[in-house]
Amino acid sequence: MGKNSKDSIKCHKKCYIIILLPGDIYIRILVTGGAGFIGSHIAEYYAKKKEEVLVFDNLSRPRILGKCIGNPLYNWNYLRNNYPNIKLIKGDIRDFNELKETGKHVDVIIHTAAQVAVSTSLKDPRTDFEINALGTFNVLEVARLNDSTVILCSTNKVYGENVNKIPVIEKETRYEYADPRYKNGIPEDFPIDLTAHSPYGCSKLTADIYAQDYAHTYGLKTAVFRMSCIYGERQFGVEDQGWVAWFVIATLTDRPIIIYGNGKQVRDVLYITDLVKAFDAFINSKLKHEVFNIGGGPENTLSLLELLILLRKLTKRKPNVRFSDWRPADQKVYISNNKKAIRLLRWKPQISPEKGVKKLVKWVSENIALFK
Ligand SMILES: NC(=O)c1ccc[n+]([C@@H]2O[C@H](COP(=O)([O-])OP(=O)(O)OC[C@H]3O[C@@H](n4cnc5c(N)ncnc54)[C@H](O)[C@@H]3O)[C@@H](O)[C@H]2O)c1
Repeated sequence: MGKNSKDSIKCHKKCYIIILLPGDIYIRILVTGGAGFIGSHIAEYYAKKKEEVLVFDNLSRPRILGKCIGNPLYNWNYLRNNYPNIKLIKGDIRDFNELKETGKHVDVIIHTAAQVAVSTSLKDPRTDFEINALGTFNVLEVARLNDSTVILCSTNKVYGENVNKIPVIEKETRYEYADPRYKNGIPEDFPIDLTAHSPYGCSKLTADIYAQDYAHTYGLKTAVFRMSCIYGERQFGVEDQGWVAWFVIATLTDRPIIIYGNGKQVRDVLYITDLVKAFDAFINSKLKHEVFNIGGGPENTLSLLELLILLRKLTKRKPNVRFSDWRPADQKVYISNNKKAIRLLRWKPQISPEKGVKKLVKWVSENIALFK
């Protein structure tokens, strides 16, 4: 974050001039879900820059998902032990008053807290709605009261099953889009309606549209990032969420990996540090409100089978794989068209899947006791 933009945000919001000294703390950033995978990396990034970081999380991930491998408090303790300039607040985004108190005078809200699994949303759609839709509404209200910049973690699931209407061709280890219009991936103006979504897709789409509307109606500087697969260290992936990390953890701990379908499903994958840089680029830009599809893009894709092959090479272990029936509505191919993000944010993914997965393998291996 450039010094000038820090100054200008502060001057714009608080209407006074501050003199910056080395080590000064002058941007207040609230990271909801900051004890989670993505949130903890964002909190770390800004703490390293000596910003004032507030992490707000109810530590519910294992409870929501109904399962957990590893220590759910790991990221929380990691931030507490390494970054004294991060303030950790245990709280729930569904509680507006609590959030309002925490969000006072906050310059930027990076909203990552969510119910994150499609499978959980099918079992308990009310909780999914309350966290993702109402919780995000609360976040936006806090942003409106404080004129805060908002970054929203949205998802490719907002496009629902429309993605499955694109014909695909089957290759040896993967599917590919057969329609040349999508050779660069799915763009932001891809249709979102007249299709099924899953409760998770609906609650995230509600949040996404609300964030766009608060930007238009109340003039908040807002970016909605519709993310594909994000992966990296400190991701406690399980079968239902965080598949790249789950495959790595399962391979290194000899747990069975169930492949639903033939394993040729393709996703673009983005390494976590690349995502955080994209968020930061928006915060520092003069852009007012935007929606971005963000992921590794066509150059950084993996099929399930290809990740297994890569893991075999990197770990010298044979993943314990079983095949099962296709899951309803599974996307055969999802690849983000990153071109808008590349153009407007002057950003590009830097970490290839091979390099990123290698880093993740190293982290899980070094922390293997966590996963036993
Ligand atoms: N990881 C991905 O590949 C991916 C892809 C698309 C979108 N997303 C979105 O990115 C965001 C972060 O995902 P993640 O992978 O870091 O998930 P995560 O589960 O690791 O982090 C989410 C955090 O939110 C917290 N949380 C849940 N409900 C809460 C509540 N009511 N109040 C306060 N905190 C609450 C959880 O305790 C958890 O720490 C989510 O919005 C998710 O929908 C993630």
